[in-house]
Amino acid sequence: MMNTPSAERADELDARAREILTQNDRGGYTVPTKGLYPFQWNWDSALVALGFATFDTERAWTEIETLFKAQWDDGMVPHIVFWQDDAGYFPGHDQWGSETSPPTSGITQPPVAATIVRALFERDPDVARAANLVEKLARWHVWFARARDPQGRGLVAITHPWESGRDNLPDWDAPLSYVDTSRVGDYQRRDTQHVHADQRPLKAEYDKYMALVQFGREAKWDIDTIAQGNPFWVADIGVNAILLRAERDLAALAAAVGETDIAESARVRAARMEAGIEALWSEELNGYVSLDLRHDAKATTLSAGTLLALYGGVGAGRAEQLTATLARWAERVTYLVPSYDPEESRFDPIRYWRGPVWAVVNWMIASGLADAGKGDLAEVVRRDTGRLIAKSGFYESFDPLTGAGCGGGDFSWTAAMWLAWASPNMPGAHEEG
Ligand code: DGY
Repeated sequence: MMNTPSAERADELDARAREILTQNDRGGYTVPTKGLYPFQWNWDSALVALGFATFDTERAWTEIETLFKAQWDDGMVPHIVFWQDDAGYFPGHDQWGSETSPPTSGITQPPVAATIVRALFERDPDVARAANLVEKLARWHVWFARARDPQGRGLVAITHPWESGRDNLPDWDAPLSYVDTSRVGDYQRRDTQHVHADQRPLKAEYDKYMALVQFGREAKWDIDTIAQGNPFWVADIGVNAILLRAERDLAALAAAVGETDIAESARVRAARMEAGIEALWSEELNGYVSLDLRHDAKATTLSAGTLLALYGGVGAGRAEQLTATLARWAERVTYLVPSYDPEESRFDPIRYWRGPVWAVVNWMIASGLADAGKGDLAEVVRRDTGRLIAKSGFYESFDPLTGAGCGGGDFSWTAAMWLAWASPNMPGAHEEG
């Protein structure tokens, strides 16, 4: 039925995953998938480096170094780098008006890079290379603190759903309801030319996305104007947990390469975030949720983000409560972890971040579960990820009920997660009992 792939099948999938990464390589950076996402994406690239690291360490370092070539002077690392033109994607660089070289978007994405660079360094302790990235990572993390947490409360805000990487999560429905779309005008979406519209965000959401791009562009991406007036200003549990873990990893990495001041300031920021994130706990829901900082309103439902708290190293004392949620969800779905609570009316098994399973999120959740002493559950999440890939291929995401692939095919980060973690051929992967 839902068995772990045989040894031959696993070998075949390993080879296919390497082929996908190689085919999606555009020379120093990897596109997430052909067609739908034809540029370099921030957190995709960082996670893809983990896949390259299993067969080409040099290429893994380059992936991250290329991303950081696009770092802004103020420290921000953009969510898209438009290394070349491609009319098949909207909104292209002209919509962002970033005036940078290379052209980029004006927003950022989940800062998973420090965690990945630490993992690369453990595999390949190249001090000069790591030290160079440590300085850049530190500037990005300082930017997060200054630009997105100007009051120093230990929670960073996102200014656009795309910054969460979990674009159409129902958590954003309420905060987006305040965004005025009256000046957006006509535009032509490209995503639905590549992927079935049922698996993508709705037009009403795209209008909001474009209104937010317009706000930032008119503000010339000035961090103070955005902090004061951006109509979307939300503390995402996902981004906060990812940044908290990244701060700790940056501290460890900086110490290892002799950058003691950077290590110390990362520790200070991490301590502030550890305290700040507690404001995201919902007694009512028994889980961490996102908080609309503009309107002081917490999300009213749970999502896979709730479980990312464990990846951030918070909530260990609440691991029982958090894993009870996972157990409840497991009764509702065939494959863990749905991106959104399958007991909720807004759950949709195929629509992007309103239900489908994402291999990268599973990897993070499993890491958090293992850290919290829940290795058995971490293994269930790993095996489910492997089964999904073995059943349907290297899709962008998967229907948690049927296991069908959703979104783009031959997806780089899914291939990377297979190689680095879900493949039964991974050293340390457990045999199924
Ligand atoms: C998209 O275009 O759907 C991307 O997720 C934005 O980053």
